[in-house]
Amino acid sequence: MTHHWAPETVVVETGRPPREHDAALNPPITLTSTFIGTAGIEQGGRQYGRYGNPTWEPFEQALAELEGAALPGLVFASGLAAVTAALTLVEPGGTVIMPRHCYLGALSGAQEAAATGRFRIVTVDIADSAAVQAAMTRAVADAPAGAAGARAGGAAPGDAAESAGSDAPATGRRPVLLWLESPTNPMLEVADLPALIEHARGAGVPTVVDNTFATPLVQRPLELGADVVLHSVTKSLSGHSDVVLGAVATSDPVLRETLHHHRSVTGGIAGPFEVWLALRGLRTLALRVERSQKNALELARRLSARPGIEVRFPGLPDDPGHARAAAQMSGFGSILCIVLPTARAATAVAESVRLWTPATSLGGVESLLERRRRHAQEPHSVPEGLLRLSVGIEHVDDLWADLSGALDVALG
Ligand SMILES: Cc1ncc(COP(=O)(O)O)c(C=O)c1O
Repeated sequence: MTHHWAPETVVVETGRPPREHDAALNPPITLTSTFIGTAGIEQGGRQYGRYGNPTWEPFEQALAELEGAALPGLVFASGLAAVTAALTLVEPGGTVIMPRHCYLGALSGAQEAAATGRFRIVTVDIADSAAVQAAMTRAVADAPAGAAGARAGGAAPGDAAESAGSDAPATGRRPVLLWLESPTNPMLEVADLPALIEHARGAGVPTVVDNTFATPLVQRPLELGADVVLHSVTKSLSGHSDVVLGAVATSDPVLRETLHHHRSVTGGIAGPFEVWLALRGLRTLALRVERSQKNALELARRLSARPGIEVRFPGLPDDPGHARAAAQMSGFGSILCIVLPTARAATAVAESVRLWTPATSLGGVESLLERRRRHAQEPHSVPEGLLRLSVGIEHVDDLWADLSGALDVALG
């Protein structure tokens, strides 16, 4: 009987060189722009540094194992480069259904692409499953007649039927694409992933899930039937705020080839050193996630006992996303939000903390906080006084002492 390793073991063990006498324990960093040989990429050769690099492969394999993908992942220059690639999975002129609150760069990047006429965006409240399903039904019904897989029960992404009658290679592109992020950045809304993914599959709509906040240790969208899972590796996967990197994983060979092709021809590739650092960071992912989640839950509890602020965190039993998060995640993540009465009060907290660092980004060992509306593009439905807290692995009592002291200053 084969014993399958737990994810806590996979992060430590996977992506090592073969066990040979005197071999290095860790994979090397390959610094090269080209590869010797006459075989091209069509014959399985590496050929050139924009098409592949051996340093990428252990990380791509590790991500696939963690996310339960049948094929190796693909690393990109940044999370946003991965987002840009995944957004090409909608047919030109098609519709992307996106959460009204999701990572700002994904939303504004998609809006800019939509402004050029490449596709249309419909934004939805991702926590309102009926609204998301209705948006899918409308978008599929509005898709041009004959569009591949546009009708309910249409071919699944990657089906050969898509390219029937044409010599062009199948791309897996569809007229409608469902973009999911859960919990959302920064509002921490929780989507009913199993229900939405199942509905999308029935409608022939591929789903992309940005799993950055949860990490594959806490939530595995491909196992729920999603077509593509995406990460800003910059965050928890690398975990030390010293790398900008992105990645996707899918079990669908046609979608993978479309994303791989996009990476090769648009050039948004990762540097080998960044990917090596990300694999190094991944080794401690399980420990970091365990500790930062525990800290986040404890801080959320202490904060919710404080008058004058609203706490958003799916780990709190009275949070609107709690039941769903408990059902589809194995933890509640390490991001929480507090809403102060005014932008001024929130800024005062950011300026008063000494241990927490006022900075954008999240998922590192160190605790960061940020007033999200300082970004002009953040949707105005995000409260002015909302602070996003990325909880790190410091001692919770130190984090609490610093934060509660700053709240005393800000709230008087
Ligand atoms: C949920 C989410 N997705 C994608 C991204 C983009 O990743 P990157 O900054 O690595 O380009 C971010 C960055 O904050 C994010 O929070």
